[in-house]
Amino acid sequence: MLPSPDLRFWDQRFAGADYFYGTAPNDYLAAVAPRLPAGPVLCLAEGEGRNAVFLATRGHAVTAVDQSAAGLAKAAALAAARGVPLTTTVADLTDYPIAPGAWAGIVAIFMHLPPPLRTAVLARAAAGLRPGGVFVLECYTPAQLARTTGGPRDPALLAGLDEYRAAIPGLEVEIARELDRPAVEGTGHTGLASVVQLLARRPA
Ligand SMILES: C[S@@+](CC[C@H](N)C(=O)[O-])C[C@H]1O[C@@H](n2cnc3c(N)ncnc32)[C@H](O)[C@@H]1O
Repeated sequence: MLPSPDLRFWDQRFAGADYFYGTAPNDYLAAVAPRLPAGPVLCLAEGEGRNAVFLATRGHAVTAVDQSAAGLAKAAALAAARGVPLTTTVADLTDYPIAPGAWAGIVAIFMHLPPPLRTAVLARAAAGLRPGGVFVLECYTPAQLARTTGGPRDPALLAGLDEYRAAIPGLEVEIARELDRPAVEGTGHTGLASVVQLLARRPA
């Protein structure tokens, strides 16, 4: 099968030596990381691995999934440089199964998927949490289209808080907000950003 145009886009974006979104974790994830219980964490659409490696340094057994082999090769290199273990899985989320009840944490930072896949992956993520497990998401909202500080230009890839909340049935929501905040992450995210932030937990 030929690689999709989207996969070629991401492989090209991650081809350079620089980390396009930097090597520091996403600010929101760093702030809420203490809420994740001990145990394995799955990072979806994890790209070059900055968030996965950060969580590994906190003692989690982390699996990073992305369609881009180029991105995950850099994730593995970053983990090796930091001296932490990291499992990487090259997969399209379209057909990536998430084992039900398996994960202490599932993280989706700037995971922008088209609507049918977005709903399916979020439902799989919600079902994939152990009792007490936590789902963390930060994504751009449609308001980001008015900005030039990063994020997809295709409106279909952007959703608001109501849609995200509706897509994670069975979880108790602890953080749910839309806000404008500075997001400066490598050269990919460069300033004020319109985002949705979610943190939700499977009841113990
Ligand atoms: C904006 S980057 C975010 C990377 C990382 N989460 C971070 O915050 O640094 C979006 C990522 O989503 C991945 N992605 C998009 N669609 C995907 C799909 N269908 N399956 C797997 N990965 C996908 C891309 O390959 C890319 O690495």
